[in-house]
Amino acid sequence: MTQQLLVYVPPHPLIKHWLAVARDVATPPVLFRAAITELGRWLTYEAARDWLPTLETTVESPLAPCPATLIDPQVPVAVVPILRAGLGLLEGAQTLLPLAKIYHLGLVRNEETLEPSCYLNKLPEKFDSETRVLITDPMLATGGSIMAAMAELTKRGVEPALTRIVCVVAAPPALQKLSADYPGLTVYSATIDGVVNDKGYIVPGLGDAGDRIFGT
Ligand code: URA
Repeated sequence: MTQQLLVYVPPHPLIKHWLAVARDVATPPVLFRAAITELGRWLTYEAARDWLPTLETTVESPLAPCPATLIDPQVPVAVVPILRAGLGLLEGAQTLLPLAKIYHLGLVRNEETLEPSCYLNKLPEKFDSETRVLITDPMLATGGSIMAAMAELTKRGVEPALTRIVCVVAAPPALQKLSADYPGLTVYSATIDGVVNDKGYIVPGLGDAGDRIFGT
């Protein structure tokens, strides 16, 4: 079977609601941050469905032993927020994945060339090949940052099929690049918007996610 990029847009009322709040230009930073946190939480919930490793065991209820499923603590789980804006999705993700290690990756986009450059890399030299990796980056626009992040991760042993990207808005240029280089990867997004303008912004999108999260 040939692998392909999977992009899920969960049809969930909470995700739709918080996306609408985030898109609204009248939403102030404190509410925008809350909306992105909620989107991080619900999209991570969806992404974890067939991704978090579990083990089958038995527990003793007050009345009798019964079969049980637990999260497998032996399999490493990592969250990689792409700074700055990926930090906005981290809190919601972290509440659902409290044992995950957090590896920050700072990428800044040159506003003229739209090329990313890395200013902070806290990734380990090598990941265990079983590691489940969840990348948080709200806006997949031209694909520059997410492709740079995937290159850093895969050269350290991360398996694309065990990787989930959680974003808020995804656009065709980024999805096409991911699809070409990382079939088997899965993206969870609140929506897909069709247009990236010549400044690299998604239209309608929600503007500059980092600026709106941090009030800058
Ligand atoms: N980054 C953002 O914050 N917004 C966009 O629309 C594109 C990239």
